[in-house]
Amino acid sequence: PSAGLGLEVVSIINKLQDVFTAVGSSAAQIDLPQICVVGSQSSGKSSVLENVVGRDFLPRGNGIVTRRPLVLQLINRPIPSQPTANGKIDKGTDKAANEHEWGEFLHLPGQKFHDFEAIRKEIIKDTEAKTGKNAGISPVPINLRIFSPNVVTLTMVDLPGLTKVPVGDQPRDIEKQIREMILKYISKPGCIILAVTSANADLANSDGLKLARDVDPEGTRTIGVLTKVDLMWDISASAYHRILNSLVLRDTGTDVVDILAGRIIPLRLGYVPVVNRGQRDIETGKSITSALEFERNFFENHLSYQSKAQFCGTPFLARKLNLILMHHIRATLPDIKTRIQQQLQKFNAELQTLGGPMGDASRNVVLSTITEFTNEFRTVIDGNTNDLSLNEL
Ligand code: GDP
Ligand code: NA
Ligand code: MG
Repeated sequence: PSAGLGLEVVSIINKLQDVFTAVGSSAAQIDLPQICVVGSQSSGKSSVLENVVGRDFLPRGNGIVTRRPLVLQLINRPIPSQPTANGKIDKGTDKAANEHEWGEFLHLPGQKFHDFEAIRKEIIKDTEAKTGKNAGISPVPINLRIFSPNVVTLTMVDLPGLTKVPVGDQPRDIEKQIREMILKYISKPGCIILAVTSANADLANSDGLKLARDVDPEGTRTIGVLTKVDLMWDISASAYHRILNSLVLRDTGTDVVDILAGRIIPLRLGYVPVVNRGQRDIETGKSITSALEFERNFFENHLSYQSKAQFCGTPFLARKLNLILMHHIRATLPDIKTRIQQQLQKFNAELQTLGGPMGDASRNVVLSTITEFTNEFRTVIDGNTNDLSLNEL
């Protein structure tokens, strides 16, 4: 599967999402597919998202950094080919790629952010505007779109991590509030759950997996992501980590290979191990390119992973996500259509009570447009997924 897989479908969904957001509260009645990241605080959720996007733009670090949901729409836009003087097609240089890569916030319409550091600052600024500076939280989402030739087209939601002990301005029932905030997103049947667990924590106690199991007991829409696998065996990790990890391993009798094979908590969609940047890498400003390079080398050269290296790491996770999303959209299409029709009937009824009934002719036009739209939708999705099987992953 290529980076642009399913572009048309997801751009239609993104348009619908904008429309529903604009319409207001009725948006909640139509559950369009999206991918949500859940897990304990500092398990690496924001780091995973950032690596999938391939750009530095999310606030991340130890402690509660993500304090509002961030609804992130990634939109793959290939660089338009320009014939050059010698007649060859120029697909663009790095400089051109920067010109074709930008972010836009729903709360700042029309403003294009080409500087990703400025995106991060805006996320922090708008988080503080709604929650204060002292670790407060809010369920009001930040909506951000990123247009880029280098992303897989996906909609993702970064959520605050599960935490138990309130700090700063956090409410006493912080655990309950965050749980409810997360459940609001992941209980929708259209939500694909990325349950992030740090590999140096005990999988059986994974907050993300527990919450995912509450809403998806069969595990049909949950993908396990194991972060920090570098801290498990990396000989450069501190002695403390090595000792801790060996104790954890002995206590639970598990090993990452068992987890990945689904012998501990089976997930139909499986687990993907990843390596993100550590806290020190954040402090020294390690680039995402060298982080992805490090990750690739890690899996290709590690004795436990090298035979399965193609099923490990961020690029594999991104491809897997996109494919799962396409299958999921196809499966939920009839339901989306029904909901759109119900919504339309409701609006028509409201119009009638306002004394301006819609004529049968115009109603039929709207209905047939929707039918056409969903049929087209199906063709696009079938075209993108027929030759691809989830079993390949
Ligand atoms: P979140 O709170 O779940 O969003 O987690 P963050 O992405 O903010 O990461 C929390 C901390 O864990 C940061 O210091 C990251 O650098 C670190 N971290 C995340 N993933 C990894 C990983 O795969 N390896 C290592 N060594 N550190 C990681
Ligand atoms: Na964090
Ligand atoms: Mg975070």
